Amino acid sequence: MTRKIVLIGLPTSGKSKTAGLLAQALHADWVDTDLVIEQRFGKKIPWIFREIGEDGFRCLEYQVVKDALSGPARIVSLGGGAPTFPATRNLLAGHTVYYLKASPDFLSDRQEQRSQKSAKKKTAQVRPLLAGDARQRMRELYDGRKDIYEKIASVVIDAEKKRQEMAADIIAAES
Ligand code: S3P
Repeated sequence: MTRKIVLIGLPTSGKSKTAGLLAQALHADWVDTDLVIEQRFGKKIPWIFREIGEDGFRCLEYQVVKDALSGPARIVSLGGGAPTFPATRNLLAGHTVYYLKASPDFLSDRQEQRSQKSAKKKTAQVRPLLAGDARQRMRELYDGRKDIYEKIASVVIDAEKKRQEMAADIIAAES
């Protein structure tokens, strides 16, 4: 098994963007499991959640994470909930797992600022598990997941930093 660099953390913690920066800096291939799920099904994640529910989504996600971890790409960014599914979590053993950690309120503040800007451009990403009171939902996700994230993390990265700095911290930890 080839060891991967795996990025985990709450939605909006910067996993995908940081993984992209890492891929550039390390001249390495990168797989984002949310993107693979959408490509395989030809549907957006909110649609998949609506049609098959969260449990169905976690089963699809398990297979995509399994494929990514046994494929050629060195860097793998996961959807925020992937480690909550025990079978998916078990796949991570033997890989270097970077937990991009930030407080839920920090993430909500940053997300609100970004969505004010992107509302005009219509690029805002829809996250079904943040539907409704997104700030409250983010706190609940944090409370429900923090122990899982901490337990499986090989390294905790401060995700209140800029993405370039997070990528630099990961590169430093790798060297
Ligand atoms: C989820 C996070 C999303 C996506 C799905 C479920 C979660 O990915 O996988 O909406 O359970 O936290 P991001 O963490 O990239 O937003």
